Amino acid sequence: MRPVSMPSPSDRRHTRNDNSVQAIGIIGGSGLTRLNALQVDRQEIMTTPYGEPSAPLTFGRLDGAPVMFLPRHGSAHSIPPHRVNYRANLWAMKAAGVERVVGMAAVGGITPPMGPGMLAVPNQLIDYTWGREHTLFEGDLTGVTHIDFTEPYCGQLRQDLLQAATRVGVSVHDGGTYGATQGPRLESAAEILRMQRDGCDLVGMTGMPEASLAAELGLCYACLALSVNWAAGKSDGPITMAEIEHQLQDGMGRATRVLAAVAGA
Ligand code: HPA
Repeated sequence: MRPVSMPSPSDRRHTRNDNSVQAIGIIGGSGLTRLNALQVDRQEIMTTPYGEPSAPLTFGRLDGAPVMFLPRHGSAHSIPPHRVNYRANLWAMKAAGVERVVGMAAVGGITPPMGPGMLAVPNQLIDYTWGREHTLFEGDLTGVTHIDFTEPYCGQLRQDLLQAATRVGVSVHDGGTYGATQGPRLESAAEILRMQRDGCDLVGMTGMPEASLAAELGLCYACLALSVNWAAGKSDGPITMAEIEHQLQDGMGRATRVLAAVAGA
């Protein structure tokens, strides 16, 4: 079993030779199983050496800009974070030809700027997940590969997202550390305090191994996070699904505007 041939990390162009914009990949998270504004051209069922992706790849246009969309939790939102086949998802997107991928994520806010409703483009992450298939570099190998992961997100795509947000007048926080937890349960208050001491600003369940697999594949990957609740212990009372649903409905329109703007850039 071999991954696709790896481009060098510097090989992160996103335009074709004719200067037309190449499709950007969007991985939809909770609340973004469907991109309502997407005009669908076609769908492609992919198989990979790692099994099935979460759903067929959907190719279409967002405000006229070419996009490839994949809902991380499946078309019916039935795949929990620890069961997502991250390897198949990223491999399929790469094989289908995208070079830039935005991972949408619903997250809990830990530090003050990250309250419910805030959109953020994190610049660092800490991985607390366990037992997930997290690498393509295993099996039929001739040597051991250690990718550089100092900067877990693609700096160029982060800037593209921030500039796109400015263009469409959507407020987005620049930076923050994403803590990836195992789920599917939410955290205890003590776990969140520990994560805060570690330096986490946001907590979500899907940021890893998505980011590191993208790096292994040489994809330019960044996260657009929507805070949908205060993390455990950061507000009075329990975290409710009603609150999360409300924030998802409120924020996804803004997130989609940013995605459309970055897709056209
Ligand atoms: N914790 C983990 N993942 C999440 C949260 C949270 O509070 N909110 C949305 N995704």
